[in-house]
Amino acid sequence: REVNHDDWFIGSVDQGTTSSRFIIFNSWADPVAMHQIEFENLYPQSGWHDQAPYELLDTVEECIEKATEKFVALGYLKSQIKAVGITNQRETTICWDKNTGEPLCQAVVWPDTRTKDLVRELKNRPGAEKLTELCGLPLSTYPSSVKLMWMIKHHGEVSKAYEESRLAFGTVDSWLIYKLNGGIEKNIHVTDTTNASRTMFMNLHTRQYDDQLLNFFEIDPSKVALPKIIGGCLGDQSSALVGQCGFNAGQAKNTYGTGCFLLYNVGTKPVISKYGLLATVAYDFGEGSEAVYALEGSVAVAGSGVKFLLNNLGFERDSHRISALAESVEDNGGLVFVTAFSGLFAPYWIDDAKGTIFGITQHTKRGHIARATLEATCFQTRAILDAMERDSGHKLHSLSVDGGMSNSDLTMQTQADVSDIHVARPPMRETTALGAAIAAGMAADGCGWHSLEDVAEMMRIKDHVKIFKPVNDKKKVARMYANWERAVQMSRGWVV
Ligand code: G3P
Repeated sequence: REVNHDDWFIGSVDQGTTSSRFIIFNSWADPVAMHQIEFENLYPQSGWHDQAPYELLDTVEECIEKATEKFVALGYLKSQIKAVGITNQRETTICWDKNTGEPLCQAVVWPDTRTKDLVRELKNRPGAEKLTELCGLPLSTYPSSVKLMWMIKHHGEVSKAYEESRLAFGTVDSWLIYKLNGGIEKNIHVTDTTNASRTMFMNLHTRQYDDQLLNFFEIDPSKVALPKIIGGCLGDQSSALVGQCGFNAGQAKNTYGTGCFLLYNVGTKPVISKYGLLATVAYDFGEGSEAVYALEGSVAVAGSGVKFLLNNLGFERDSHRISALAESVEDNGGLVFVTAFSGLFAPYWIDDAKGTIFGITQHTKRGHIARATLEATCFQTRAILDAMERDSGHKLHSLSVDGGMSNSDLTMQTQADVSDIHVARPPMRETTALGAAIAAGMAADGCGWHSLEDVAEMMRIKDHVKIFKPVNDKKKVARMYANWERAVQMSRGWVV
């Protein structure tokens, strides 16, 4: 396209679990400039998963700077970027000192399981049975509430700040918005309903903090500043649903990122799951529009399983090559890999499951392990789809996909086969960043995206979605899935 200084653009910060990126989209939702930086994840003990709060911020700032330089080098003006949206990894918990704006410790990242014993204890307390009805989430190591409670109990600096009422709590969106807007000077301490719905502090029905929930987790709001809940920003999985234009009840998307997260739009009333799924805010564009809810199936390990093969087992140098390695064998050779590195999340919620490989023989090659790693996410997605069907009474016929692992044709075909579903993959897979850009674009003056209908119409005109249809022998799939279910049960109960 020719450079035209009348065109408008929207920037999007996507702060994920393994990388930060900044993407500048044109009015056709095509990325024109981007920059991405991978950063270090820290595993100081088995089950612990930390990140440095300043590394999250610094990588975001550098991505904004570098992507904008690329944009300007194409001949555009910075002023053509009309707004910037933010989307982020959810649940990851950051504590800082509200007087100095400095972090008090490392961020505790969403798959961290150090809170396992605390969660067991909380499950036996009166009121535990009411939590899911109030906030949509089951009690597990996953949400921010137990992470914050653990930090207040066990981290000296955090406990002291709490006792002295100078503790500020936030998820990654809060931390970034606070710092990018001048920190203590302006003290903009906010979050949005999609991120707040992952803390277990927010009542899903009122979309406000709830005293019953705060009391249960022993959080005294006079001692810790909680971010004000606003509309408009989006947790990354909500953002991907928006980027996929999943605006109607009954639509679903599955994002294969570090973890894998299936969101099913249930409309404007939350549905509390009976089968191990989460109820969450899908998106909420604030004033003048109703909040939309989703049922969610969260898989803790997807791309991180591929990274494990690269970094811990030295299989290949590049994630893309794992799919080719998996294709080098005809099938999994009888191997099942339960990638339960953080226990198992939805719909199983087995906190003491550990990563376990079953079915090894002299015939087993690296290709079989690669294949079983990719299949693990597909099997968990199938279990989630089965649970969703039970909760909603509807069978899903088509699943929109995105995220790094969706680039693998083998994985997408396996997903279609294992779940007996059409898998729809858009040509542009940066749907997470696009969702935040859509939210920012609709809120900004001078942009042509006035409504979700406008956006959906534009995407309909331009999209060439690739569909993977089920082709596999049904008996073979049934056998593979039965092995998976057996392996899940055998991976539980490990004491370390
Ligand atoms: O709930 C955690 C999720 O938001 C992380 O997403 O894309 O970094 O795996 P991702």
